Amino acid sequence: MTTEIFILFGSPRDRGYTARMLECFFSCWDGAGIKKRTVIFNAYRAGIKPCIHCGHCKKVRGCIYDDFIPVEQGLNKADLLIVASPVYGMGFPAPLKAVFDRTQQYFEAKFSLGIEKPVQKHKAALFFAACGSNNTGGVTVMKKQLALEFGLLNAALLSTVVLRNTDKVIFDESLISAGMKNAARRVRRYLRDMP
Ligand SMILES: Cc1cc2nc3c(=O)[nH]c(=O)nc-3n(C[C@H](O)[C@H](O)[C@H](O)COP(=O)(O)O)c2cc1C
Repeated sequence: MTTEIFILFGSPRDRGYTARMLECFFSCWDGAGIKKRTVIFNAYRAGIKPCIHCGHCKKVRGCIYDDFIPVEQGLNKADLLIVASPVYGMGFPAPLKAVFDRTQQYFEAKFSLGIEKPVQKHKAALFFAACGSNNTGGVTVMKKQLALEFGLLNAALLSTVVLRNTDKVIFDESLISAGMKNAARRVRRYLRDMP
């Protein structure tokens, strides 16, 4: 079986700490010999428009803008959703926050239009966060936002891996490799036991 992985990537830096966290995860994943197909949605490159609260999705399913379609396709196909992001100002960087705000269309689909599961496919989810300081207060805020998101996206958060102090320490895989191995193991088990 091939695991379909969809990544919401929130860093503007292709070789930053967030990207390296993903690399570390995939070396754990591949090490276990599990086949995967990966789609990365780079929030900075995509430049998704912010929600303008026009009220369209309260009346009709969907959004007035069509730039969300790649996210929708990714979410509908994924067995595993990974949110990988740096902490910016105690929260998600603006381009990734815009992606989450656009899931208001799922909120309205559910609560205004009565669609029980706006995203049909159930999936496992992981959250990887890189934060410059030793204070993980921002990660706590982001996890609260994700609890709401994952409910709408039909995703179960299995594990969070945080790399702290990135403004002071050079990337060292050993700081996160145990957390990543554990995350990969949990996903494997979850997907195997899913009905
Ligand atoms: C605009 C901006 C805001 C930031 N805000 C925070 C913050 O609130 N808390 C924190 O711990 N680090 C903060 N940082 C540091 C980043 O989280 C850190 O450098 C992280 O490693 C960046 O991820 P990257 O290496 O993938 O680009 C901020 C950095 C930037 C550029």
